[in-house]
Amino acid sequence: MDLEPAPEPQGPWLEVLRERARRSIHPAVWAYLQAGAGEGMTTAEANDAWRAVRFRPQVLRAVGEADLATTLLGTSVTSPIAVAPSAMQRAVHTGGERAMAEGVAEAGSLHVVSSNSGTRFADLGAAGPWWLQAYLPPERDLFRPVAQAAVAAGARAVALTVDTPYPGSKPGVDHEDWSGIDLSWWRANYPEADDGRWQDALTLEDIGWLRDAAGVPVVVKGVLRGDDALRCLDAGAAAVYVSNHGGRQLDRAVDTATALREVVAAVGDRAEVYVDGGIRAGVDVLAALALGARGVFVGRPALWALGAEGGPGVARLLGELRSELKECLEQAGCASPDEAPGLL
Ligand SMILES: Cc1cc2nc3c(=O)[nH]c(=O)nc-3n(C[C@H](O)[C@H](O)[C@H](O)COP(=O)(O)O)c2cc1C
Repeated sequence: MDLEPAPEPQGPWLEVLRERARRSIHPAVWAYLQAGAGEGMTTAEANDAWRAVRFRPQVLRAVGEADLATTLLGTSVTSPIAVAPSAMQRAVHTGGERAMAEGVAEAGSLHVVSSNSGTRFADLGAAGPWWLQAYLPPERDLFRPVAQAAVAAGARAVALTVDTPYPGSKPGVDHEDWSGIDLSWWRANYPEADDGRWQDALTLEDIGWLRDAAGVPVVVKGVLRGDDALRCLDAGAAAVYVSNHGGRQLDRAVDTATALREVVAAVGDRAEVYVDGGIRAGVDVLAALALGARGVFVGRPALWALGAEGGPGVARLLGELRSELKECLEQAGCASPDEAPGLL
């Protein structure tokens, strides 16, 4: 009996993209992408926190066309919207991290490459700008060649993830189900001596160690408090990245819109502050910029785009979000992202 093909998904463009991705990604991998830790409360609340922000638009400013170009830690990008690090991209699309890199480059953005990447850094291709994300192994020196290989292949900074002593428990994610998924697509860049253990005892000293080992600036990813942000900067961080890991670590961790307010208030002009978690539309980006973020990163939507359409899908996602942000800035009377903080 012939089965009717499933009808094309309908609805808002990002929902269509997500549905197309769900249909093309292995069900166990899909469960892993979507999951939040615990009951998934932090994951579920993430977007609502951006939706709760209200703007006070400015008028009579002859804005015309807003110019979205900006810089993230000195790197020029066509908009303040970049791609967060995520593992298992080769399980999402055969092109993996390389296709992601090509899509991001086409959009004129930057992405952060997970240190659990399944693609060797040297094979990412000479696409656009990228940063390395770091999970430090218990034996720190095993990470030195990883960082050096990344920098030799073009990484301009390292984002040290500090919210993951080990992966949070995610009910419904069953690694036994991963039939057909090549687990060598995990940690292709660590030396063989690395046994895959997680670092459960990071300290402030690791920031300076990593900066010296990599020879590039360190961004600390996973900060949710103003006091921690200042401790990171005092310890040598170049920038702070507010994140609760997409709700995948401590369930009921504070949403990143709330945390961003506190971190920006503490950091002031001392360093750039970035944010991720639940950014799903240009108007969410406007909220983050208004709260003081220099740039935002998208996690799951980039994986949906990669899964549904490969690199061109990633470029399209970033282009759509950029267009939405442009309209929001113009409607709000802002000529550039820098003017968004005036909207609150
Ligand atoms: C499947 C998946 C894998 C991830 N892998 C990593 C990782 O290797 N390193 C890291 O720092 N963050 C990782 N993250 C967290 C993202 O960088 C980011 O913080 C989060 O996805 C942002 O939330 P969003 O998905 O709502 O945009 C991962 C997230 C997902 C969904």
